Amino acid sequence: MNEQIFQKALQTVASRRLHAKSENDRRYREVDARIPQIAEINRQLAQTATKILDTLQSGENIAERLETLKRQNLEAQQISASLLKAHGFPEDYLDMHYTCEHCQDTGYADGGYCDCLKKLIASFGISRMNEYAQLTLASFDQFSLEYYRGKLDEQGRDCFQTMQQILQACRRYAAEFTPSSPSLLFYGRTGLGKTHLSLSIAAEVISKGYEVIYDSIINLLQQVEREHFGREHSEMDTLYLLLHVDLLILDDLGTEFDTPFYISTIYNIINTRINRGLPTIINTNLDLMSIRRRYEERIVSRLFAVYECMHFVGSDIRLMKKKNSAPLI
Ligand SMILES: Nc1ncnc2c1ncn2[C@@H]1O[C@H](COP(=O)(O)OP(=O)(O)OP(=O)(O)O)[C@@H](O)[C@H]1O
Ligand SMILES: [Mg+2]
Ligand SMILES: [Zn+2]
Repeated sequence: MNEQIFQKALQTVASRRLHAKSENDRRYREVDARIPQIAEINRQLAQTATKILDTLQSGENIAERLETLKRQNLEAQQISASLLKAHGFPEDYLDMHYTCEHCQDTGYADGGYCDCLKKLIASFGISRMNEYAQLTLASFDQFSLEYYRGKLDEQGRDCFQTMQQILQACRRYAAEFTPSSPSLLFYGRTGLGKTHLSLSIAAEVISKGYEVIYDSIINLLQQVEREHFGREHSEMDTLYLLLHVDLLILDDLGTEFDTPFYISTIYNIINTRINRGLPTIINTNLDLMSIRRRYEERIVSRLFAVYECMHFVGSDIRLMKKKNSAPLI
């Protein structure tokens, strides 16, 4: 785990705790000013610790006197709660209100990191990864169907119609996205809009508040490899993020080296995310036959059985755009 990210997450938790405390102080001052009886009760309650100490030191009738103190405290708290209610405040107005009640904004619970801290680490980690990936998000509005007009695919079908359906399906997918949406496989030749549409989905899903990791499979696998063979191991490494993020977009499947570590990592990512019901979008230049030839059966069978496959057709738009913008000399 990246130390900077860990520190940043700890600081965030600490500032939440400070905020909870200062809000609590503010509510105390407000109530003290409005309800003098409560101010008095609070003063008495604040002396409880001293009274307990006195009792313990005196050595006489300790159990009995502690019991009395406890009863008095309870009564004082009940009176305080009903006074609050009578003055139109919620009964728990003077309790501490933490962002995470489970760890009381300490970041630690049940002998380890609390989920709230893990969530922060994950979300800071994801932002940093997307900065590295230079995530320039595309949008559906910049996606034109005109590039596909008048073109036929290898089977003689109208590319415009196929891509219109794909565009519609992607728009619907983004609009209805939840972390249990299906996984998608975009395949087709270069420059047909696979990356463009997956980034358009990413932009909309991020704007709905979900966490998305987008990067080329080469970058992601290299990062996982560096961490795997590096010195430190942690449950919050890149691999953890890839296995848990709401939406993972793996661009350019098939461009990675064919090493056993990469293949088993790809299998792990695909398989684990399917088991967790989390969606993944995979882009590839490979056609279905080439996928079958290149990857082992346990990967291929999962991709074909679980992913919704979309075949991108048309001719290289990167090239068309370049031609159109070429100087006229
Ligand atoms: N329908 C479209 N309308 C407008 N621009 C498009 C469209 N499709 C693709 N583009 C643009 O063309 C370029 C290439 O598209 P993109 O990167 O999405 O292709 P790709 O299918 O991912 O190709 P590759 O397989 O090489 O990664 C990008 O600049 C993209 O924004
Ligand atoms: Mg691409
Ligand atoms: Zn917590």
